[in-house]
Order: sequence, then structure tokens, then C-alpha cells
Amino acid sequence: MAIKKSFYAKTKDGEQVDLFTITNSKGGEVKIVNFGGTVVSLKVPDKAGNFEDVVLGYDDLDSYINNECYFGALIGRNSNRIENAEFTMNGKVYKIAQNSGKHQLHGGFKGFDRVIWEAEIIEKNGEEVLSLKYTSKDGEEGFPGEVKVQVIYSLGEDNSLGLDYSAVSDKDTVVNLTNHSYFNLAGHASGDILSHELMIKADQFTEVDNECIPTGVVLDVQGTPFDFRNFNWIGAGLEVGHQQLDMGGGYDHNFVLKVSGIAPEKIAEVYEPKSGRVMEVLTTKPGVQLYTGNFITPGTKGKNGAIYNKRSGLCLETQYFPNNLKYKHFKSSILKAGEKYHHITIYKFTTR
Ligand code: GLA
Repeated sequence: MAIKKSFYAKTKDGEQVDLFTITNSKGGEVKIVNFGGTVVSLKVPDKAGNFEDVVLGYDDLDSYINNECYFGALIGRNSNRIENAEFTMNGKVYKIAQNSGKHQLHGGFKGFDRVIWEAEIIEKNGEEVLSLKYTSKDGEEGFPGEVKVQVIYSLGEDNSLGLDYSAVSDKDTVVNLTNHSYFNLAGHASGDILSHELMIKADQFTEVDNECIPTGVVLDVQGTPFDFRNFNWIGAGLEVGHQQLDMGGGYDHNFVLKVSGIAPEKIAEVYEPKSGRVMEVLTTKPGVQLYTGNFITPGTKGKNGAIYNKRSGLCLETQYFPNNLKYKHFKSSILKAGEKYHHITIYKFTTR
């Protein structure tokens, strides 16, 4: 693993954004910018050894600043939705930024996806890794406590993209971090992901209302298009249809995982038959949001002249369940003052 730092762009305020290129000796390559800690390119081989960029993204900083879809970005303080943008903690009601109608989505107006992270190339187990740090101020987007966050990106020799997230706060607060990469294993510019085959180790998923807010009800996947315990192609379920698929115009649901939370465990696998590319997902987190790019504006201009439409990519966002602060039976994303938040997610690329 080696990391090269280069200049990416300057913001309108003159702040510099750098590009970090991490490579392994097998030709695998990931590019990350410290604006939003965003993965802007990820090249892995197909079964014939041809490398292709398998994540959606843009060509320039301005597009990332307006990144409506959150392509590749780190998400925080809180991933996904908090109903009515409020929660109760220690008997007190907190009102947080309402950036999605009356709700909050992905941390507010200026979430961790829109800030410049302090980047440093450091060594871990004798390998170079990319450390990104950000201090979120007390009261930022309405959340209490100053939170110091660190995300370490690594690219293993086995083409595994590692994300090691840690955080600590000086007051009780909410921390629920993820990465919002959109994958298309045939290549970012190759059209839709409907023929990708997906497996998720989950017997249940969380029901949502017509604003994509979890209702607290947990549904069995058995007999529904949400049953990915055996591989199924994504288009199959969308064709069959389901009342829950009408809510967000496709899959936009959190699956209930059975992980110990101690070390990353495999929870999902995606397979693209033409290229033979496989992506395994391992995590310590209790949930994963399957999102099939339902809200991508048709005709979105992406990298190298690519045009993205609905379903051009799919996300597997590992996380605490959305809206967990409202329901006692959902694991809570509250981080107590002085305690450490630590989670790992790995996206591992192979072929078959
Ligand atoms: C998440 C949400 C989606 C959507 C995207 C961003 O995946 O669950 O509803 O907001 O982020 O477009």
C-alpha cells in the first residue's frame, strides 16, 4: 500500500482540497479527497484482469460541493433520517437541523460530507493508510457536544477498502457514521445495476413510511422482494413489487444484521455476472441501508462524460438503524461523553 498526495482544487474561500491516491501492488487504486472524505474513484479488476472505476462520482470540486446524492462521501454526525429532526436524550428534547422537509437527513445542511477533513498519511501495521480527522463543534447542526472524529481509509493487497471510524465526544450526543459510495461493478458509466446479484444476511428489515422514515416495525424478509438470503438480481424484486418498494421508489431500506459488533463480519455480497466482479461487505455495525439510487436525477453529469440515471449505482451503507432514537428496541446511536465510538466496514473486491 502506498499513498500519493496531490493538489485537487481550491474552494471559493481559498481553502485547499487535496487528492490522495492509495495503490496496492496488484494494481488496485482508490482516490479520496479530503473534502467530505469522499471516495472519488475506485479501480479494481474484472475476471479478465481489466481495471474499471466502480464508483459513481464527479470530475470537479464544485460538483462535490453540490453533491445532492452524497456520491462517495463520509456521512455524519448521523447517517440517514431522524424523524421531525428532534430527539430526546437524558430527558431533554434536542431540535436539530431540518434539511429534508421537517426531518433531518445525513447530518444536516453541512454534514461531514461537506467539510474539509484534516488529512495525514500515517503508518499502521507497517503500511501507509490515510487518516482523516474532523472536529465537529458543540451545537453543529443542532447536535450537542464537541466530537472529534477520525476515519482511516486503507486499501489492502486483497483489494479490500477499509474504513475504520472512531469518535469521542465531550458531552452525550449522537454519532452514526457511514460512507455513501454508489457502486456499479460493471463500471460507473455502464448503465443500471438491475442485473447485479445481491446477497444480504438478514432475516428482517425495517419498515418505512412514505417519507422513508422507519416506523419502528420490523418486517420478515421471507416471501418478499427483500429476501436476499440467497442471491437474487436486484431487478427481480423491483419487477415483482411490494408496498414497501413504493415508499422510496425502490430499495431504500435498512436490513437487520446479526453481527457481534466486535470484529467485522461478512454481511453482504454483490456479484456482477458480465465482469465477474464481486464485492463483499464486512462490518461491525448492526444495520445496512440498501439504496438503489432511486433519487438520482436522470441525466446527472458524472465523471469523464458519464451520465447517471436512477439505479446507476447501489449503496450498502452500514449504520445504526435510521430513526433509532425514537425506538427502544433499536440499538441506540447515542455516544456517551468520553466513551469511544469505534466501527469498521470493509468493501472487499474479488472476481468469480
Ligand atoms: C440514503 C437515503 C436515501 C437518499 C440517499 C441520498 O441512502 O436512505 O433515501 O436520501 O441517501 O440521496
